[in-house]
Amino acid sequence: SPRRPELETQSGEEVAIAGVIGAGIMGQGIAAANLKRGVRVLMSDNRPAALAAGIEGVIREASYDKATKGVSADLAIARAAHISGVNGSAGLAESNVVIEAVVENADVKRKLFAEIERTLSDSAILASNTSTIPITTLAEGLKRPENFAGLHFFNPVRKMPLVEVIRGAKTADKTVERLVAYSRKLGKTPVVVNDGPGFLVNRLLMPYMNEAALLVSEGVSIKAIDRAAKEFGMPMGPLELHDVVGLDTCLHAGEVLHAALGDRIEPAAIVGKLVEADRLGQKNGKGFYDWTPGKGGKPP
Ligand code: NAI
Repeated sequence: SPRRPELETQSGEEVAIAGVIGAGIMGQGIAAANLKRGVRVLMSDNRPAALAAGIEGVIREASYDKATKGVSADLAIARAAHISGVNGSAGLAESNVVIEAVVENADVKRKLFAEIERTLSDSAILASNTSTIPITTLAEGLKRPENFAGLHFFNPVRKMPLVEVIRGAKTADKTVERLVAYSRKLGKTPVVVNDGPGFLVNRLLMPYMNEAALLVSEGVSIKAIDRAAKEFGMPMGPLELHDVVGLDTCLHAGEVLHAALGDRIEPAAIVGKLVEADRLGQKNGKGFYDWTPGKGGKPP
């Protein structure tokens, strides 16, 4: 019989309401993780169409029934009752924690934080899902930087247990502790990491992914590279991973690491060329692979 999420909500644990701003790939995954653990979600996006599509995506994701390998209608109704689309920052006011997952742009994020902070209670936590922007930089201008930290989920959220809790220069210990507890509540495995370019995981992962893209430029076949990585034990090949993450996101992350680490990472030109050709990966149908249904570009 389907789980009854309505019975799970009143657990008395600290985060009962999570605000998620940005209804894209990551916002949807994060919101679904909350719904699955009985946390109510308030979701906001500055594009109404993206918000509507995002909420549909969250409900679909959170009501997937492993047994039938499909969406459970009962569960979908229950989940839908626990997520609300809200308008702007003011709509997020009741949240115990707000997770920001909008475009990877420091100015856009900082402007939003200033707005959101004004509406939140003094004890609420504001967290950014940024993959690359230092948390200390994002905290500039906040009135309560002690309540601010990075909470970095990985894509796809439903499959990836790891969450980086990133401590900025002014983040309070209590904020870190609360985010660790909240991550566990979501069924994730938190690691507390230092602030800095790429934090921990992307600092390791981006050079590896970049080398894979460089191998493609040297003429090695995409499938051969991904197959080798998988045979070695990686759950997914590095080029498929580019497509799943989004080539624009990868390009940006590569540039940030290059700026910080110099010639230790020189972003492969091929990624930039694919982005210029609007091949952004799975999200718009083509990247290193062709994901269009029927095109047979399925990675090995
Ligand atoms: P996305 O492009 O899929 O979604 C971003 C959403 O934010 C869009 O729906 C857009 O309409 C909305 N948005 C943009 N500006 C806004 C604003 N001012 N106010 C409200 N909504 C706004 O992006 P994605 O991939 O979900 O990335 C979001 C964040 O998560 C970025 O900071 C990214 O670096 C980070 N991230 C991405 C990962 C990935 O694999 N794609 C993995 C981990 C972190």
